[in-house]
Amino acid sequence: MKKVIITGGSGFIGSRFIRRWQKSFDILSPTHQELDITNKDAVVQYVKKNGADVILHTAAISNTGYCEEHPEESYLVNTLATTYLAEAAKAIGAKFVFFSSDQIYNGNKEEGLLSEDIDIAPVNHYGRHKLEAENRVLEIAPDAVALRATWMYDIPREDMPAHPNFYTTLSNAIEEERPLQYAIYEHRGITNAREVIELLPLTFDLPGGVYNYGAENHLNTFDTAYSFVKIRHGEEVAEKVVKADKERFAQQPRNISISMDKIRQASDNKIYFTNTFEGLLEWEKKYKEYDFD
Ligand SMILES: NC(=O)c1ccc[n+]([C@@H]2O[C@H](COP(=O)([O-])OP(=O)(O)OC[C@H]3O[C@@H](n4cnc5c(N)ncnc54)[C@H](OP(=O)(O)O)[C@@H]3O)[C@@H](O)[C@H]2O)c1
Repeated sequence: MKKVIITGGSGFIGSRFIRRWQKSFDILSPTHQELDITNKDAVVQYVKKNGADVILHTAAISNTGYCEEHPEESYLVNTLATTYLAEAAKAIGAKFVFFSSDQIYNGNKEEGLLSEDIDIAPVNHYGRHKLEAENRVLEIAPDAVALRATWMYDIPREDMPAHPNFYTTLSNAIEEERPLQYAIYEHRGITNAREVIELLPLTFDLPGGVYNYGAENHLNTFDTAYSFVKIRHGEEVAEKVVKADKERFAQQPRNISISMDKIRQASDNKIYFTNTFEGLLEWEKKYKEYDFD
């Protein structure tokens, strides 16, 4: 059994990974209290003492608004601590796999699905800190894998928290018959967390590099929400709840939607996500009750 040290085991992704894969891997998941990843000496000591085949790094400050207000803390956790873990992984010969974000594309102006090789210049602290983490980690450990994840959704489950996300926010609004604004000048992938978790072990075998990781989405955010609600709840509900926000991003349309070509090719088509719209439809049919065991 491969030994995996996972950071962020109490978080959205970490808790689901542990629940899903605890019987397949020997998983070690230090809590924040047990291992503060911003303490470099503690990180090196912990990793050397315990050893691992893979370090799966999901701990982060994942709230972009908080990062904007607390840039130093964001830099410490999202950039520097990530490099400490990469160095520790290298020291013991472990594969280092960590979560970056599609937010690194938030300064780009291209249309269509974005690939990993385009020039990027993120416009917020979170994006810049994730990008610097990618660059520094790959200098330290060229065989490390950075996963540029999209916005993910799931409902909160026992011992598995979920931040407010596309699905929970929309379903609450439907229940309360409350109108919600969705930007027409925004394109982004939105991914079922269950697919993200299911495919994660395959990323341990990828060649080092940066990979987009999540659902492709050709629809804008308004069309994504409207089409989904129309099919699931009918046109009347869609009209009542899903409103077009024509102002947000109107000056500079926002496109952070990712192409999955690179990871698909690198994994011989094994790493493959359902696109956002189909994923949402599948979710209600197949996965809503899925408990990750
Ligand atoms: N969720 C999304 O939609 C999304 C989208 C794109 C990318 N990502 C990226 O995916 C990864 C996982 O995100 P997530 O949603 O699972 O994050 P999350 O739910 O916010 O969990 C973050 C985890 O990091 C831990 N942590 C924070 N600071 C720490 C420190 N100094 N030392 C040790 N542990 C620390 C937290 O522990 P405590 O709670 O105990 O502090 C928590 O377990 C992150 O890199 C995030 O940036 C997420």
